[in-house]
Amino acid sequence: MERIIEIEKLTFENEYEKSLRPNCWDDYIGQEKIKRNLQVFIQACKMRGECLDHVLFFGPPGLGKTTLAYIIANDMQANIKMTAAPMIEKSGDLAAILTNLQEGDILFIDEIHRLSPAIEEILYPAMEDFRLDIIIGSGPAAQTIKIDLPKFTLIGATTRAGMISSPLRDRFGMHFRLQFYTPLELSTIITRASIKLEKICNLEAANEMAKRSRGTPRIALRLLKRVRDFADVAREDAISLERSCFGLNELGVNDQGFDELDLRFLQTLIEAKGRPLGLSTIAAALSEDEGTIEDVIEPYLIAKGFIERTARGRIATPKCYEVLKFTIPYKTGLFGDLDE
Ligand SMILES: Nc1ncnc2c1ncn2[C@@H]1O[C@H](COP(=O)(O)OP(=O)(O)OP(=O)(O)O)[C@@H](O)[C@H]1O
Ligand SMILES: [Mg+2]
Repeated sequence: MERIIEIEKLTFENEYEKSLRPNCWDDYIGQEKIKRNLQVFIQACKMRGECLDHVLFFGPPGLGKTTLAYIIANDMQANIKMTAAPMIEKSGDLAAILTNLQEGDILFIDEIHRLSPAIEEILYPAMEDFRLDIIIGSGPAAQTIKIDLPKFTLIGATTRAGMISSPLRDRFGMHFRLQFYTPLELSTIITRASIKLEKICNLEAANEMAKRSRGTPRIALRLLKRVRDFADVAREDAISLERSCFGLNELGVNDQGFDELDLRFLQTLIEAKGRPLGLSTIAAALSEDEGTIEDVIEPYLIAKGFIERTARGRIATPKCYEVLKFTIPYKTGLFGDLDE
């Protein structure tokens, strides 16, 4: 099923997303703490004439990890090479990437939790000592050749904080967890994008789209694009609140920002009548992939307090029953006891 609020990994970015991607700190809205810290660390490195320490970004898809990597490169005036873990299959692939780097370059590895253990082993000395250890031959005749690498900065991004191995995680000097955006931040992102698209969006319309964007800039921009289509066809010069509500309803995004799949997910939990459900059971009920459920659907529902992950499985919270107007099948006071 195609979702309008689809936020899965985009293999190839479309031109639209690229043109709206902020390339300096001032255009990057929200994530204030991360921004503040990074700016200090970058300034310190520049003052010392050093290369930035390795950086790791965690967070659900579409929150701005890749964008941050580009902004860092811009600020450091460094070249950036982009790759993703699934593209690095053999040790030779990584060796080729590393030996082609120049002093001060930034290497961005997306989905870094998907590197194989053998590739990770090669990355460790490269990150720590800027050295490549290549083993030639096998058995007793095997030889290790050490090659010095230029000093570079590795920026890793992952949607799965829990899946990155701890030796790899520990080799990054900075860890940043991106948060979902507030409606106000999203509304600002939408307003700025609408100016770039030369289709002004009035404030109430921007707020309405922001409210329904699941805290995610990528979704906000996608909703804006679709609502703009409705406004263009209706020959409206600016996007009004009515047009945006109409468009959003047509797209099946409700006023909580939930779409059909979110609602089916919540419904499945509600139908379990307070019994915790395991990930595989939910995946089977929704005919969805477990990874999509964990990375894409759950983080926002958890952040909004609609579901909880307990030791025994997923459970709908009292808030979920309230908002969806169902009777809570257990005493509210008991709820905390479920999470032993
Ligand atoms: N803080 C922000 N301010 C303005 N626009 C943003 C911000 N963060 C992200 N965006 C916009 O949202 C889009 C998605 O961001 P980005 O590609 O950086 O997400 P991501 O975290 O790398 O996602 P994925 O995990 O899928 O790779 C970008 O096109 C960018 O324009
Ligand atoms: Mg990305």
